[in-house]
Amino acid sequence: MYYPAKITGSEKLSKTLYLKRIKILSDGIKEPLPFQFLLAWVPGVDLLPMSVADFSNGEVAIIVKERGEGSRALIRLHSGFLGVMGFYGAGFKPWSYKRILFIAGGSGIAPFFYLARKACEEGVSVDLVWGVRGGDELFNPRSLLNTVNKDTEIYIATEDCSAGYCGRASMLASRVIHENPGKWDLVIASGPQGLLREVCSLLSDTGIELYVNTETLVKCGVGACGSCVLKPHPLLLCKHGPVFRCRDIEGFLKGG
Ligand code: FES
Repeated sequence: MYYPAKITGSEKLSKTLYLKRIKILSDGIKEPLPFQFLLAWVPGVDLLPMSVADFSNGEVAIIVKERGEGSRALIRLHSGFLGVMGFYGAGFKPWSYKRILFIAGGSGIAPFFYLARKACEEGVSVDLVWGVRGGDELFNPRSLLNTVNKDTEIYIATEDCSAGYCGRASMLASRVIHENPGKWDLVIASGPQGLLREVCSLLSDTGIELYVNTETLVKCGVGACGSCVLKPHPLLLCKHGPVFRCRDIEGFLKGG
Protein backbone atom coordinates (compact mmCIF):
# COMPACT_ATOMS: atom_id res chain seq x y z
CA MET A 1 0.00 0.00 0.00
CA TYR A 2 1.39 3.38 -1.03
CA TYR A 3 0.71 6.51 1.02
CA PRO A 4 1.59 10.13 0.16
CA ALA A 5 3.70 11.65 2.92
CA LYS A 6 5.52 14.83 3.89
CA ILE A 7 8.73 15.46 5.81
CA THR A 8 7.81 17.31 9.01
CA GLY A 9 11.12 17.18 10.87
CA SER A 10 14.73 16.76 10.00
CA GLU A 11 17.70 16.61 12.35
CA LYS A 12 21.36 15.70 12.06
CA LEU A 13 22.02 13.36 14.97
CA SER A 14 25.72 12.73 14.39
CA LYS A 15 28.31 12.76 11.62
CA THR A 16 26.59 9.86 9.84
CA LEU A 17 23.03 9.58 11.17
CA TYR A 18 19.98 11.73 10.45
CA LEU A 19 16.49 11.69 11.97
CA LYS A 20 13.52 12.26 9.72
CA ARG A 21 9.93 12.67 10.87
CA ILE A 22 7.40 11.87 8.17
CA LYS A 23 3.68 12.64 8.32
CA ILE A 24 1.63 10.10 6.38
CA LEU A 25 -1.15 12.00 4.60
CA SER A 26 -3.79 9.29 4.85
CA ASP A 27 -6.01 7.99 7.62
CA GLY A 28 -5.71 4.41 6.44
CA ILE A 29 -2.32 3.52 7.92
CA LYS A 30 -2.27 1.09 10.84
CA GLU A 31 0.13 1.36 13.76
CA PRO A 32 3.20 -0.82 13.02
CA LEU A 33 4.50 -3.59 15.23
CA PRO A 34 8.07 -3.24 16.53
CA PHE A 35 10.59 -4.18 13.81
CA GLN A 36 8.12 -3.77 10.96
CA PHE A 37 9.62 -1.54 8.28
CA LEU A 38 8.55 0.80 5.50
CA LEU A 39 9.72 1.53 1.99
CA ALA A 40 10.39 5.24 1.51
CA TRP A 41 10.03 6.35 -2.09
CA VAL A 42 12.03 9.46 -2.91
CA PRO A 43 10.44 10.67 -6.18
CA GLY A 44 12.68 9.98 -9.16
CA VAL A 45 15.44 8.47 -7.05
CA ASP A 46 14.88 5.21 -5.16
CA LEU A 47 12.85 3.00 -2.85
CA LEU A 48 14.59 2.62 0.52
CA PRO A 49 13.72 0.08 3.25
CA MET A 50 13.76 1.87 6.62
CA SER A 51 13.16 0.66 10.18
CA VAL A 52 10.48 2.39 12.21
CA ALA A 53 12.17 4.36 15.00
CA ASP A 54 8.86 5.74 16.27
CA PHE A 55 5.23 6.08 15.26
CA SER A 56 2.48 8.21 16.70
CA ASN A 57 -0.68 9.80 15.23
CA GLY A 58 0.25 8.96 11.65
CA GLU A 59 3.77 10.37 11.99
CA VAL A 60 6.68 7.98 11.62
CA ALA A 61 10.31 8.59 12.61
CA ILE A 62 13.20 6.96 10.77
CA ILE A 63 16.97 7.13 11.17
CA VAL A 64 18.86 7.44 7.90
CA LYS A 65 22.52 6.62 7.36
CA GLU A 66 24.20 7.97 4.26
CA ARG A 67 24.97 4.92 2.11
CA GLY A 68 24.35 5.93 -1.49
CA GLU A 69 22.37 8.13 -3.85
CA GLY A 70 18.96 7.15 -2.43
CA SER A 71 19.80 7.82 1.22
CA ARG A 72 21.59 11.08 0.29
CA ALA A 73 18.43 12.26 -1.51
CA LEU A 74 16.30 11.35 1.52
CA ILE A 75 18.69 13.18 3.87
CA ARG A 76 18.56 16.29 1.65
CA LEU A 77 14.75 16.26 1.68
CA HIS A 78 13.91 18.75 4.45
CA SER A 79 10.30 19.64 3.80
CA GLY A 80 9.22 17.96 0.58
CA PHE A 81 6.80 15.20 -0.29
CA LEU A 82 7.62 11.53 -0.67
CA GLY A 83 5.84 8.19 -0.75
CA VAL A 84 5.65 5.64 2.03
CA MET A 85 4.75 1.98 1.53
CA GLY A 86 4.14 -0.41 4.37
CA PHE A 87 4.32 -1.42 7.00
CA TYR A 88 6.06 -4.68 6.05
CA GLY A 89 7.38 -7.74 7.84
CA ALA A 90 5.91 -9.88 10.57
CA GLY A 91 7.32 -7.64 13.30
CA PHE A 92 8.24 -8.97 16.72
CA LYS A 93 6.34 -8.66 20.01
CA PRO A 94 8.59 -10.15 22.71
CA TRP A 95 6.18 -9.39 25.52
CA SER A 96 6.59 -12.74 27.27
CA TYR A 97 10.14 -11.79 28.36
CA LYS A 98 11.09 -9.84 31.51
CA ARG A 99 14.04 -7.77 30.42
CA ILE A 100 15.54 -7.43 26.94
CA LEU A 101 19.10 -6.48 26.00
CA PHE A 102 19.13 -4.77 22.59
CA ILE A 103 22.59 -4.88 20.97
CA ALA A 104 22.95 -2.40 18.11
CA GLY A 105 25.72 -1.67 15.64
CA GLY A 106 25.70 1.77 13.96
CA SER A 107 22.33 2.60 12.38
CA GLY A 108 21.00 -0.76 13.63
CA ILE A 109 19.92 1.27 16.67
CA ALA A 110 16.87 2.62 14.73
CA PRO A 111 14.20 0.07 15.81
CA PHE A 112 15.36 0.22 19.46
CA PHE A 113 13.39 3.38 20.30
CA TYR A 114 10.00 2.12 19.10
CA LEU A 115 10.59 -1.30 20.65
CA ALA A 116 11.48 0.32 23.98
CA ARG A 117 8.32 2.44 24.06
CA LYS A 118 5.99 -0.43 23.11
CA ALA A 119 7.76 -2.82 25.50
CA CYS A 120 7.29 -0.39 28.38
CA GLU A 121 3.54 -0.29 27.66
CA GLU A 122 3.59 -4.08 28.06
CA GLY A 123 5.60 -3.99 31.30
CA VAL A 124 8.83 -5.22 29.69
CA SER A 125 12.16 -3.40 30.23
CA VAL A 126 14.71 -2.89 27.46
CA ASP A 127 18.39 -1.97 27.87
CA LEU A 128 20.79 -0.96 25.12
CA VAL A 129 24.35 -1.80 24.11
CA TRP A 130 25.24 0.45 21.17
CA GLY A 131 28.52 0.19 19.32
CA VAL A 132 29.90 2.42 16.57
CA ARG A 133 33.22 2.57 14.71
CA GLY A 134 34.05 6.18 15.58
CA GLY A 135 32.86 8.46 18.37
CA ASP A 136 31.68 11.01 15.80
CA GLU A 137 28.87 8.56 14.85
CA LEU A 138 27.40 8.77 18.35
CA PHE A 139 24.45 10.76 19.62
CA ASN A 140 22.81 10.56 23.02
CA PRO A 141 20.21 7.74 22.72
CA ARG A 142 18.28 9.23 25.64
CA SER A 143 17.45 12.22 23.43
CA LEU A 144 15.16 9.93 21.36
CA LEU A 145 13.97 7.62 24.12
CA ASN A 146 10.41 8.10 25.25
CA THR A 147 10.12 9.50 28.77
CA VAL A 148 8.32 6.30 29.85
CA ASN A 149 11.61 4.39 29.50
CA LYS A 150 13.01 5.60 32.83
CA ASP A 151 14.74 2.35 33.81
CA THR A 152 16.52 1.77 30.47
CA GLU A 153 20.28 1.29 30.92
CA ILE A 154 22.61 2.31 28.11
CA TYR A 155 26.10 0.97 27.41
CA ILE A 156 28.26 2.54 24.68
CA ALA A 157 31.19 1.01 22.75
CA THR A 158 33.45 2.66 20.19
CA GLU A 159 35.98 0.87 18.02
CA ASP A 160 38.23 3.97 17.91
CA CYS A 161 38.13 3.99 21.74
CA SER A 162 37.03 7.64 21.82
CA ALA A 163 34.04 7.03 24.14
CA GLY A 164 32.69 4.31 26.40
CA TYR A 165 34.02 0.77 26.12
CA CYS A 166 36.97 0.35 23.74
CA GLY A 167 35.91 -2.37 21.30
CA ARG A 168 32.94 -3.82 19.49
CA ALA A 169 29.33 -3.91 20.72
CA SER A 170 29.34 -7.74 20.81
CA MET A 171 32.34 -7.76 23.17
CA LEU A 172 30.80 -5.16 25.50
CA ALA A 173 27.50 -7.07 25.50
CA SER A 174 29.30 -10.30 26.39
CA ARG A 175 31.02 -8.51 29.28
CA VAL A 176 27.88 -6.92 30.74
CA ILE A 177 25.90 -10.17 30.43
CA HIS A 178 28.60 -12.16 32.21
CA GLU A 179 28.83 -9.45 34.93
CA ASN A 180 25.03 -9.51 35.44
CA PRO A 181 23.97 -13.17 35.32
CA GLY A 182 20.20 -13.69 35.10
CA LYS A 183 19.46 -10.01 34.37
CA TRP A 184 18.24 -10.48 30.77
CA ASP A 185 16.16 -13.30 29.31
CA LEU A 186 16.22 -12.08 25.69
CA VAL A 187 18.89 -10.56 23.46
CA ILE A 188 18.03 -8.91 20.15
CA ALA A 189 20.95 -7.82 17.95
CA SER A 190 20.48 -5.31 15.13
CA GLY A 191 23.04 -4.04 12.64
CA PRO A 192 25.65 -5.36 10.22
CA GLN A 193 25.69 -9.09 9.56
CA GLY A 194 29.12 -9.43 11.18
CA LEU A 195 27.70 -8.12 14.46
CA LEU A 196 24.74 -10.49 14.29
CA ARG A 197 27.07 -13.42 13.66
CA GLU A 198 29.34 -12.43 16.57
CA VAL A 199 26.43 -12.00 18.98
CA CYS A 200 24.97 -15.40 18.07
CA SER A 201 28.34 -17.07 18.53
CA LEU A 202 29.72 -15.17 21.57
CA LEU A 203 26.52 -15.43 23.61
CA SER A 204 25.53 -18.99 22.70
CA ASP A 205 26.64 -20.28 26.12
CA THR A 206 24.62 -17.76 28.16
CA GLY A 207 21.29 -19.62 28.08
CA ILE A 208 19.58 -16.39 26.97
CA GLU A 209 17.22 -16.50 23.98
CA LEU A 210 19.10 -14.93 21.05
CA TYR A 211 17.37 -13.16 18.15
CA VAL A 212 18.70 -10.96 15.35
CA ASN A 213 17.14 -8.21 13.24
CA THR A 214 18.31 -9.05 9.70
CA GLU A 215 19.04 -6.85 6.69
CA THR A 216 19.10 -7.89 3.06
CA LEU A 217 17.88 -6.73 -0.35
CA VAL A 218 14.19 -5.81 -0.24
CA LYS A 219 12.20 -4.94 -3.37
CA CYS A 220 8.48 -5.76 -3.21
CA GLY A 221 8.06 -6.06 0.57
CA VAL A 222 5.16 -8.51 0.25
CA GLY A 223 6.74 -11.91 -0.35
CA ALA A 224 6.31 -11.85 -4.14
CA CYS A 225 9.75 -11.24 -5.70
CA GLY A 226 12.03 -13.51 -3.66
CA SER A 227 14.81 -10.90 -3.43
CA CYS A 228 14.90 -10.99 0.38
CA VAL A 229 15.29 -14.76 0.82
CA LEU A 230 17.79 -15.60 3.59
CA LYS A 231 19.75 -18.23 1.65
CA PRO A 232 20.13 -21.14 2.26
CA HIS A 233 16.98 -20.99 4.38
CA PRO A 234 13.51 -20.87 2.80
CA LEU A 235 12.72 -17.72 4.79
CA LEU A 236 11.78 -14.29 3.45
CA LEU A 237 12.82 -11.26 5.46
CA CYS A 238 9.76 -9.28 4.34
CA LYS A 239 7.29 -12.03 5.19
CA HIS A 240 8.74 -14.04 8.09
CA GLY A 241 11.11 -11.46 9.60
CA PRO A 242 13.02 -9.31 9.85
CA VAL A 243 13.67 -10.78 13.33
CA PHE A 244 14.77 -14.41 13.54
CA ARG A 245 16.14 -16.72 16.19
CA CYS A 246 19.92 -17.18 15.75
CA ARG A 247 19.66 -20.94 15.43
CA ASP A 248 17.01 -20.69 12.69
CA ILE A 249 19.27 -18.76 10.28
CA GLU A 250 22.76 -20.09 11.04
CA GLY A 251 23.53 -20.70 7.36
CA PHE A 252 22.55 -17.15 6.36
CA LEU A 253 24.66 -15.63 9.14
CA LYS A 254 27.71 -17.71 8.18
CA GLY A 255 27.38 -16.62 4.57
CA GLY A 256 27.68 -12.90 5.28
S1 FES B 1 11.13 -8.21 -0.88
FE1 FES B 1 10.66 -10.06 0.13
S2 FES B 1 9.84 -11.30 -1.46
FE2 FES B 1 10.09 -9.37 -2.40
